[in-house]
Amino acid sequence: EDDGPQPEKHCGHGRGGMGESVSRKEDQRFITGRGNYVDDVKRPGMLHCELVRSPHAHARIEDIDGSRAMALESVVAVLTADDLLEYGLATMPTLMDDTQDVLVNDKVKFQSQEVAAVIAEDRYAAKDGAEKVEVEYDVLDPVVDAAAALEDDAPVIRDDIEGKEDNHCLDWETGDEEATADAFANAPVTVEEEMLYQRLHPAPIETCGAVGDYDPGKDKLTVHMTSQAPHIHRTLFAQVSGIPEHKIRIVSPDVGGGFGNKVPIYPGYVVAAAASYVLEQPVKWVEERSENIQSTGFARDYDMKGEIAATEDGEILAVRTDVLADHGAYNAVAQPSKFPAGFFNIFTGSYDIDTAYGSLTAAYTNSAPGGVAYRCSFRVTEAVYLIERMVKVLADELEMDPAEVRRKNFIQPEQFPYESPTGWNYDSGDYETALDKALEMADYEAYREEQRRRIEADEKKLLGIGISSFTEVVGAGPGKSCDIAGVEMFDSADIRVHPTGKATVRVGVQTQGQGHETTFAQIVAEELGMDVEDITVEHGDTDTDPYGLGTYGSRSTPVAGAATAVASRKVRDKAKSIAANELEAAEDDVTWDRESGEFHVVGAPERSITITEIAAGAYMNKPAGEEPGLEAVNYYDPPEMTYPFGSYVVIVEIDRETGEVDFEKFVAVDDCGNRINPMIIEGQIHGGLAQGIGTAMLEHVTFDDNGNVTGGDFMNYLLPTAMEIPEFETGHTVTPSPHHPIGAKGVGESPTVGSPPAIVNAVVDAMAHAGVSHVEMPMTPDVVWETLKESGLAQ
Ligand code: CDP
Repeated sequence: EDDGPQPEKHCGHGRGGMGESVSRKEDQRFITGRGNYVDDVKRPGMLHCELVRSPHAHARIEDIDGSRAMALESVVAVLTADDLLEYGLATMPTLMDDTQDVLVNDKVKFQSQEVAAVIAEDRYAAKDGAEKVEVEYDVLDPVVDAAAALEDDAPVIRDDIEGKEDNHCLDWETGDEEATADAFANAPVTVEEEMLYQRLHPAPIETCGAVGDYDPGKDKLTVHMTSQAPHIHRTLFAQVSGIPEHKIRIVSPDVGGGFGNKVPIYPGYVVAAAASYVLEQPVKWVEERSENIQSTGFARDYDMKGEIAATEDGEILAVRTDVLADHGAYNAVAQPSKFPAGFFNIFTGSYDIDTAYGSLTAAYTNSAPGGVAYRCSFRVTEAVYLIERMVKVLADELEMDPAEVRRKNFIQPEQFPYESPTGWNYDSGDYETALDKALEMADYEAYREEQRRRIEADEKKLLGIGISSFTEVVGAGPGKSCDIAGVEMFDSADIRVHPTGKATVRVGVQTQGQGHETTFAQIVAEELGMDVEDITVEHGDTDTDPYGLGTYGSRSTPVAGAATAVASRKVRDKAKSIAANELEAAEDDVTWDRESGEFHVVGAPERSITITEIAAGAYMNKPAGEEPGLEAVNYYDPPEMTYPFGSYVVIVEIDRETGEVDFEKFVAVDDCGNRINPMIIEGQIHGGLAQGIGTAMLEHVTFDDNGNVTGGDFMNYLLPTAMEIPEFETGHTVTPSPHHPIGAKGVGESPTVGSPPAIVNAVVDAMAHAGVSHVEMPMTPDVVWETLKESGLAQ
């Protein structure tokens, strides 16, 4: 009788349901300084942990002497791998089945790797102590470049793996190699381009940290930690430590940004928990900024070759790609375990292409492990960059308008559900409508005209117009194909409506700033006709929340959002019999009206009752034979992922005298299906676009030949500030997901995924008339200046 919210019914009802820009509930505490982050956790008798890190990228440890540190009055312990060995904690499994040192036992494999830990009464003493730990290293030649690592004479990094004699990490392929080769052999036009998606760091404002708090009285270990996935972390802690899972509680309090960086388990978490267990005192570890950048999960580092085969009028016949991936010193990618290259399979993008083939080789290097999904659904960012850049390369080769090439190749609305040549099932889309809207908002034709005029007039400032019409895949599961460390990727919601008609909702996902406390309450408000103010959303405590796989890969709305809607409907089902009882009608004569948020008697709308009014009845006047209470839980295994999409148009001016790039216009049209909170979506888009600008223009983790991280702090790793961010013009279309209970898709990552190719396409576009086909990110003024010089455009 109720198919869920329809796009045209997103009127909000004024109760804070779907489609309303409800102010974020969590902001009250954030903007009044009452947030509670891991570093705010204080316990009586709490000790502090500081990690001793290797200054070398590749070195054998000859000796560690902690005696000078121990001589300091406030230092309680100096831990090395030998101490952890006793408890079986010297190493830990990564999420991709590799084994990583918690503290280095034998050989350092990247600069800043964790070598020892000093536990002291305060943080200053711990830091003083760490400086006094003497480590003797036998320094080895490092290799920090993936291609060099695969050469025959490269130093072998992973000699801890039995029989390993090279730095090869893994191979992967998808699609039909032969059919693709045939398509290329017979195609009238082929283009190719090489492009590096450089190493980035997710750079959450709050670094990683933990407070291990073992209670010997209850024999229970509580770990407050910066975790995007508290439940899976609890399971892994139990598996690694041998402590029974019900004796471990992970609490993820307020988390100051994650972006994929807080999905892996880091040595600091393990050391803080282990030290607390052994010393029977709480132990806090909070890393510094440079530690975060230099040692925690990096992102991207895909060196890609892209190729397109096409007809002369721009119809794409086949796509091929080959990737060299740098995985760092361990295979510690945080992604569903059956996907060694994440969801890179989606590299055919928004286009209806018959044939495709992708291959990848990954190498170990002397750099921090990672390849985490930085505000992206597991390598979708790299895939989107590849295809959206290649479409521009094709358009320039054919001297066609890149918008026209896109239109010619888009998967059409009636083709959904659409199966891609690499086997992915797109749920819904209307790509041309989004592109047309973005082009109109950007005044595309007028800018094209202006571009031609400037070229003819040989003006000092070049104009470039870049487009990206991206498709994402977000919301991992389903469980049958996606798991983390063996646990299927479902998610959950537990709703309790209390006797006075107020509700508590607990979810298995973990917000890091996305506003779940507001939007998940809105889903319940929509489904139960309640006021959003009467609903509290909790998360981040494994003792009280239902099991879930956490927040990354924009999976919260597609999976836990669906669980919340389904659990709400279960509550509503139960409420119906109470409604009938209260309204003195037969249950079959009672119907739910989504618009008014009430049950009423068929044919007599004035005889109505709200869930808030029913709640008391569930506890005080339940029908005979009915269970008391008004609660429901749902564990939701999504049948498929969702495929949000959008079109971005970026217009840049390039100064031919300096290489400086200015954003003239930045238009983003997104489609995330039915929208829960337009204001939160807008915020998500703004933040993600800023990160996309950082990617395209500024950010790169770099190394020197000795393996030193040269972009390892915020002086050298440049994040965009308000100065670099232009005004964004945002728009939207609504194409609901047909399989999601409320028709919603994820949105958080779309802007980070979709914007870098639009920006690079714009910069290339400004210089394409002089034969420029690619500019590598980050497009700093010196990089652009070199390109201007090489193409004869510099003034
Ligand atoms: O998993 P994560 O929360 O990072 O990403 P998401 O599911 O895309 O959601 C980001 C924020 O946008 C959440 O607060 C969502 O509830 C909200 N959102 C929305 O209001 N409407 C949508 N269709 C999708 C997300």
